[in-house]
Amino acid sequence: MSTENKVKLYGFGAVGQGFHSYLVDNNEEDRLHTVIVKDETKKRKPIKAILETTNPNTAQDKTMHAIVELISSAEEAYGIVYENLEIGKNVISANKKLIANHLAELVKAEKQYNGKFLYEGAVCGSIPIIRILNDLFANDPVRQVSGIFNGSSNYILSKLFNEGISYQEALQQAQDLGFAEADPTSDVGGYDALYKLIIVAAHAFGKIVKPNEVLNIGIQNISLADIEFAKKHHQKIKLIAKSSLEGNKLILSVLPTFVNSENDLFNVENEYNAVLVESDNIGQHFYKGKGAGSLPTGSVVYSDLKAIDAGYSYSYSKLDKQNIQLANEEQINVVLSAETVSNIQNIGVDISNFTPINFDGSQLLGKIALADLKRNKTLIEQKGVSVIVIEDENLINELRNASVKEAVKL
Ligand code: HSE
Repeated sequence: MSTENKVKLYGFGAVGQGFHSYLVDNNEEDRLHTVIVKDETKKRKPIKAILETTNPNTAQDKTMHAIVELISSAEEAYGIVYENLEIGKNVISANKKLIANHLAELVKAEKQYNGKFLYEGAVCGSIPIIRILNDLFANDPVRQVSGIFNGSSNYILSKLFNEGISYQEALQQAQDLGFAEADPTSDVGGYDALYKLIIVAAHAFGKIVKPNEVLNIGIQNISLADIEFAKKHHQKIKLIAKSSLEGNKLILSVLPTFVNSENDLFNVENEYNAVLVESDNIGQHFYKGKGAGSLPTGSVVYSDLKAIDAGYSYSYSKLDKQNIQLANEEQINVVLSAETVSNIQNIGVDISNFTPINFDGSQLLGKIALADLKRNKTLIEQKGVSVIVIEDENLINELRNASVKEAVKL
């Protein structure tokens, strides 16, 4: 059998099955030659392709038109993606961890060996943000790209806020619905959003940085008290990935953030993701769509295959064109809260300039550098301290004034 336009698929989880559905619906199921799975005997929907377990010796396949990598392990995915790019193959991946950690060398291999490497499914599910940034914003200086990049965290925060169910119950639902990663720490710890942010920054600003250079704080420490606080002040809490370029300084972070109803992200709920892009000439764009799930993500993986068929590849037109430096000295306003004030006192952060904003001082408002939070991240997580960015200047002033009145009364 000729393998001219054939595809080898690694992984048949939620996204792999979604991709398969698109092949079937578009009368292209015959293109799927082989599916590599961990366990051939596992009960799964019937497919025409050959089912195989991984060959431990090599992932290279000279005969296929495209390799589609949709497994969860970033380490195993690296071998599959790199070894096939090395022989000039077309490769599609949705593995954000792998891509964020190895982007520079994967782009180099793609160029050097003349394959094509596409990965729209790695970032924000069905929102085609990589192609938008790579193509539409190629000739416009981008100032900021921010948004909700993790469907599972947003799903959990929405459920805590709107339905009052427990964190564990909401996480379980996100897993049952196929949104969360095999290890959900990546979702709730803000790593998944961080990997996506690194990929976005490469296309938006032309700078590739390593994930461990950037601050990411997740939603694990968000408490019922934080949710109540948000409600009282007409805010919601969203896990926001943010990148902005000021001069030649690139500022990147993933942090829980209070947003009010004037913010476009306020009404982005459940597994939906959203991206705000701001550039000099085009101005502001806002994209919203499902950020996780079998068919939404499967659809962009299938689009990548069609793009490869049509000869498309990312231009990376901004890559390494400017002397951009990552800047972590940026100061941000945050609310720190914990069960007791002593937990906050023991995270290694200088809180002498913070203002208590509740009766027992277990909620503090103040300004801090991203670098300080990054340096003390482990202690912050261990002590159960929630860190929530607050951007609403009116609310900041209101909280400060209320605090002063309380102090006067005492
Ligand atoms: N676990 C990811 C999320 C899947 O929840 O957003 C999509 O990348």
